[in-house]
Amino acid sequence: MILDVQGLTKRFGDFTAVDNITFHAKPGEILGLLGPNGAGKTTTIQMLLALITPTAGQIRIFGEDLARKREAILQRVNFSSTYVQLPFSLTVRENLTVFARLYGMKRQRVVEVMDELEIAHLADRKTKTLSSGQLTRLHLAKALLNHPELLFLDEPTASLDPDTADRVRKHLRAVRERMGLTMLYTSHNMREMEELCDRLVFLHQGKILFEGAPKQLLAERGVEDLEALFLEVAREEREDA
Ligand SMILES: Nc1ncnc2c1ncn2[C@@H]1O[C@H](COP(=O)(O)OP(=O)(O)OP(=O)(O)O)[C@@H](O)[C@H]1O
Ligand SMILES: [Mg+2]
Repeated sequence: MILDVQGLTKRFGDFTAVDNITFHAKPGEILGLLGPNGAGKTTTIQMLLALITPTAGQIRIFGEDLARKREAILQRVNFSSTYVQLPFSLTVRENLTVFARLYGMKRQRVVEVMDELEIAHLADRKTKTLSSGQLTRLHLAKALLNHPELLFLDEPTASLDPDTADRVRKHLRAVRERMGLTMLYTSHNMREMEELCDRLVFLHQGKILFEGAPKQLLAERGVEDLEALFLEVAREEREDA
C-alpha cells in the first residue's frame, strides 16, 4: 500500500474538519477525493503532507509512519496546489531551479519539466506576470521535479482552459504509465474526476459518505454520471441538515 490512512481526524477548536476517515491508495492508482466546498479535502491533503498535525489517526506512506519518518517520506512525495505561493519576483526558471536544488536534482531536470508542462517559452518571465493557467502549469512542473512516487494534486486544473486541462490530464496519465506514479486528486470538475480517477472517495462534512470505482458508484446509485450523483448526494444531505 502506497498510502494508508486510518481514523484520520482534524479538529480546529471544537469544529471537526476531518472526522475519523480511513482510506488507502494502491500503487499506480489515481484516487479522487471529492465533495462539496468545506468537505475537508484540502485539510486532509495538508495532513498527508505533514503541513498540519492530525488531532487523531495514523498516516502510513510507503509503509512507514509519516509522523516518524517525515523527511524520508517527503523526499519521495510532491504536491501541487494554488494555496502555496511561489516567490513572485523570481522567473519561472529561477523558481524551478531553487526547488530542483532543494530536491537534489540536476539543472537538466528543470529543462525537462519545462518541456513536459509546455512552459519552456516562459522560462525568463517573472512568476508574477503569469496568467493563472500558466502559473498552474508551473506548479505542476515543480511538483514533478523530484520524480515523486506519490503526488497530491489539489484542484490542479481549476484555472486551466479545456484544451490545456486536457493536455495536463494526458500528461499526468503518461507520467503514471511511465513511472508508476500514484496520485491523490481533487477537483470540482465531475467529468474530469469520472474520466481520470480509478477510485473515488466522497467526503462530506469531514466524513466519508462512500467510495468506489466511478462506474461502480454510478451503477449502485442508478445515475447517469458523476455530476448527477454529486447533486443527488449534496441535496440529500442538505435536506437532512
Ligand atoms: N485553520 C483552520 N481553522 C479553522 N477552520 C478551518 C481551518 N482550515 C480549514 N478549516 C475549515 O475546515 C473545513 C474544511 O476545509 P477544507 O479547506 O479542507 O475544505 P475543502 O474540502 O478543501 O473545500 P473546497 O472545495 O472549498 O476547497 C471548512 O469548514 C474550513 O472552513
Ligand atoms: Mg480545498
